[in-house]
Amino acid sequence: MEIFLDTANLEEIRRGARLGVVNGVTTNPSLAAKEGIGTSGSYKEAVQEIATIISGPISIEVVSQDVEGMVTEGREIAGWIDNPWVKIPSTEAGFEAISVLAKDGIRINQTLCFSPNQAMLGAQAGSTVVSPFVGRLDDIGHDGMELVSDIVSIFRYYALETKVMAASIRHPQHCIMAAKAGAHISTVPYGVLMQMTKHPLTDSGVSRFADDWRKATQ
Ligand code: G3P
Repeated sequence: MEIFLDTANLEEIRRGARLGVVNGVTTNPSLAAKEGIGTSGSYKEAVQEIATIISGPISIEVVSQDVEGMVTEGREIAGWIDNPWVKIPSTEAGFEAISVLAKDGIRINQTLCFSPNQAMLGAQAGSTVVSPFVGRLDDIGHDGMELVSDIVSIFRYYALETKVMAASIRHPQHCIMAAKAGAHISTVPYGVLMQMTKHPLTDSGVSRFADDWRKATQ
C-alpha cells in the first residue's frame, strides 16, 4: 500500500519526503486554508512548490459545485504541474464533471466518497482513484473501514482499474486496517505518519543496545 501525505504544509511534506516513504500528496481547500494559502499565496503556487518536493501525484481540489465550473477548474488545475490528480466530489454534478475530464485524459481523485454506490458510479465515470473518508464515517458511528473493504471487493470482483485511497485517516491503526482491506493507497496526516514510525520497544531496544555497547567498550 502506498502512503500519501494529507497536508498542504510544506515543511511536513519536506520532512515526510526525506524518509523516502511518501508516494504522493493530497490537499483540499480546508488543508490549504489552514496553511494561509488563499490569503498569503495562491493555491497554484503552493501546489507548484509541493511538486518540487514530491514527484508522485498531487491531488488538488476544485471548489466549484456545478459541472461547468468543475470542468473549467479541473482543466486549469491539470496544467499547474506534471502529475496532478484533480479532486472532484462524489456528487451528481461531480460524476458528470469526472466523465468529461476523464475523457480529456485528466486523472481524477474522486473525493468525499461515503458509499459503495458513489464509488461504483465514479469508477464508471472514469475516476483514477476513489477516496472513501474513513474517519468522518467513524465520527458519526458508522464503520469507515467497512466502506474501504466493500469498495476494494467490488472493484476486484469486476477487475476495475480505479484505485482505492483510504482518506480521512485519524490514527495508525486505520493504516493497518486499510492495508489489510487491500486499499492501494492511504493518505495520512503528518502526525499519523510520525506515529507509524514509532514503537516503544524499538526505542527501548535502541537504548539498551547503546548502553550494553558502552559498558562493554568502557
Ligand atoms: O483529504 C481529505 C481527507 O483526508 C480529510 O480528512 O480528517 O478532514 O476528515 P478529515
